[in-house]
Amino acid sequence: MVIYTVTVNTGKRLSAGTTSSISIQLRGTEAESEEQILNNLNQGSESTFEIETRKSLGELIAVKLNFKQLGHLCNEWFCKKISVNTPEGDNILFPCYRWLDCGEILVLRTAQALLVFQDRTEGQRHRTKQLEKRQELFGWRVYDQGMPQIIDCDDESLLPAEVRFSFTKSVEFFSTAAKQFVYQMVNQLADNQNSWESFRTLEDFYSGIKNETIEYVKEHWDEDEFFGYQYLNGFNPMMIQRCSKLPENFPVTNDMVKDSLSGSSLEQELKKGNIFLSDYKMLDGLVGNVINGRQQYLTAPLVLLYCNPQGKMMPIAIQLKQKPSKENPIFLPSDSKEDWRLVKIFVRSAEFGVHEVDFHLLRTHLLAEVFTVATLRHFPSPHPLFKLLIRHTRYTLQINILARNKLISADGILSKYAGVGGEPLVYFLKRATASLTYSALCFPDNISERGLENVPNYYYRDDGMQLWEIINKFVAAFLSNYYKQDDHVQKDTELQRWISEIFTNGFLARDDSGIPSSFQTLEELIKFVTMVIFSGSAQHAAVNNGQYDFGGWMPNFPSGLKKPPPKEKGQTTEDTILETLPDKSTTVNIMSILSLLTNDSADYYPLGYFPENLVDEDAPLKLIEDFQKNLSKLSDRIEKRNEKLELPYTYLNPKNVGNSVSI
Ligand code: FE2
Repeated sequence: MVIYTVTVNTGKRLSAGTTSSISIQLRGTEAESEEQILNNLNQGSESTFEIETRKSLGELIAVKLNFKQLGHLCNEWFCKKISVNTPEGDNILFPCYRWLDCGEILVLRTAQALLVFQDRTEGQRHRTKQLEKRQELFGWRVYDQGMPQIIDCDDESLLPAEVRFSFTKSVEFFSTAAKQFVYQMVNQLADNQNSWESFRTLEDFYSGIKNETIEYVKEHWDEDEFFGYQYLNGFNPMMIQRCSKLPENFPVTNDMVKDSLSGSSLEQELKKGNIFLSDYKMLDGLVGNVINGRQQYLTAPLVLLYCNPQGKMMPIAIQLKQKPSKENPIFLPSDSKEDWRLVKIFVRSAEFGVHEVDFHLLRTHLLAEVFTVATLRHFPSPHPLFKLLIRHTRYTLQINILARNKLISADGILSKYAGVGGEPLVYFLKRATASLTYSALCFPDNISERGLENVPNYYYRDDGMQLWEIINKFVAAFLSNYYKQDDHVQKDTELQRWISEIFTNGFLARDDSGIPSSFQTLEELIKFVTMVIFSGSAQHAAVNNGQYDFGGWMPNFPSGLKKPPPKEKGQTTEDTILETLPDKSTTVNIMSILSLLTNDSADYYPLGYFPENLVDEDAPLKLIEDFQKNLSKLSDRIEKRNEKLELPYTYLNPKNVGNSVSI
């Protein structure tokens, strides 16, 4: 007889333990052990026991866990890991780090990462079986033609246990103190469809909110300098680009703007590269939603900005619609205070549309869901890319199902309270999907395409570029450890199926997107994986985490506008502006959702730190350690820089960047 000593670790999280009957079986290259029932699976426990077999099982390949459901009584188990001391003297780790559903059979592989052609026949059989099961559990669904496909599940409680929220996150999601305060505000005004009587009433209403950035925004939202600042360092730093030639439909003349150009001319400043443009043409032609029975008005503005000698980005001309005409005048900072304020409000409302639908929902949430589903369907647990990417998929499916059910469904918050909600959202999302490109998703390419390499005080670019490089360096080193040559990339059938499905189901097989449909070289793979991790972590943090800070003060981020844009100058009064802005119920409902979408939960892990350890080989462990060190150094640099800033830019501080789209 020979003896295997088995140690089983149960997770520390709430309700991780189980009294249900679970059996274990060891599987080797030569034989399999008898099934044996596990005991003492208490929360946070480590229990050791022995399994006897008549002879050695050969090289240990897997451990099978069988959750036997006896009657109706059954409580799920969170298995952390299992390690086995073999009679040959080896200690073999089988990472698990997931819930086991009642009645589930789970086969765990060893921690060693292997590409499919490196695995032995028995291992390959396990891989195939695991993927068949996952492909049954995680199917694709067409949400609507022309949009990335989604997970085939519309109730988050029906998702397999391995991808559901932890108990902590579920409980916290709707119940932190800060959220409670906003809910009280919502309760007071949830059904009040009146406009705000004055800016003073609005300010008084916000007086109980203790949020330094909201206070700052409340004070500065109407200033041109802050309006321009947000194009660089607000929660949508994606809309601005350098302008070397004015678009034909935006006939700004030197006479119009020369007073704003510090004694220079428009032609000179265009040549010098100091003129910038934000063109919302993506919104052109969309008809606004109806909120509380009132038609909402969407515009597709063109905003011209000037980076002045002090390095401030200043708006110098705004045209609210795409087609120039007498009834679509070009507004200037020299127009009446009310005119200029109102057109800037229209621009900020256009920001609501492009930010929430394109830059937030599509480019982070929906793409992260595509990457998550493809990862679960095509990478078995021993695949190095499973070990690398699964951490960046945490809670993504669940949060997206919640978003579909609570935000964009027929009675969701955006459908009820956003000018871009409802039909225009679907239309716009399809338009944005149809024009999405690979280069727009790759940070350095995006910055250079927009000509923003040298703009001063662009902290999103400065921090984002360093984060991209740190992630890229880590991904390159991690993958090079397994893919020794391009040929390995080409013959990894699991990888090729993964990218092919992303191309087809996520990017709708659009060749002009530039998204690869297969990989030929390691270099191509490294860039793509960097983009996947960056989009779900850094990019999502940049566009998500400042929503309440910058958007909480309603006039700075109005979700819909209930009067048409001005057709001539000199007609706007403060009353026109208050009549145009969202009513009270829209204000508080949108505020509550922005607050909900911004807070992190107690089981949040910052980029590079993970609750599970899926690798135990020295080389990747060292790479993870180096990755964490580099992130921590970047944090220090950002914090030092921020000390000198009037408004610190914190969203890309690695400490504040989550690993995945989870909120
Ligand atoms: Fe988000």
